[in-house]
Amino acid sequence: MALYSEKVMDHFRNPRNVGVIEDADGIGEVGNAKCGDIMRMYLKIEDDVVKDVKFETFGCASAIASSSMATELIKGQPLSEVRQLTNKAVAEALDGLPDYKMHCSVLAEEAIQSALEDYSRKTGKQV
Ligand code: FES
Repeated sequence: MALYSEKVMDHFRNPRNVGVIEDADGIGEVGNAKCGDIMRMYLKIEDDVVKDVKFETFGCASAIASSSMATELIKGQPLSEVRQLTNKAVAEALDGLPDYKMHCSVLAEEAIQSALEDYSRKTGKQV
């Protein structure tokens, strides 16, 4: 069996929503001390909905695929839904990740939650 699903390979080779949002409403940056990978998420929020999302990931194939898939899952979604996003949902949407690569999807969850916290801090709104 191939190590990675076709979806992982697709999102790794053609990542969606890569880049920076200059006037982002929330920015989250997280890293994994063990592997050294870093992920940054930018959120543009309007009327409690994620209008736009972009990411920069300096990391492995699974981290890039996880960030890409996570952006697709949250784009256009209300913040209440985005708050619930788990790394498991990201990994499932990618048709699975090898066990020892699950931590890469955790980065995506953490980066999004951190961006939401940043948004809350800046606006005083509870998300
Ligand atoms: Fe660390 Fe993938 S190996 S995020």
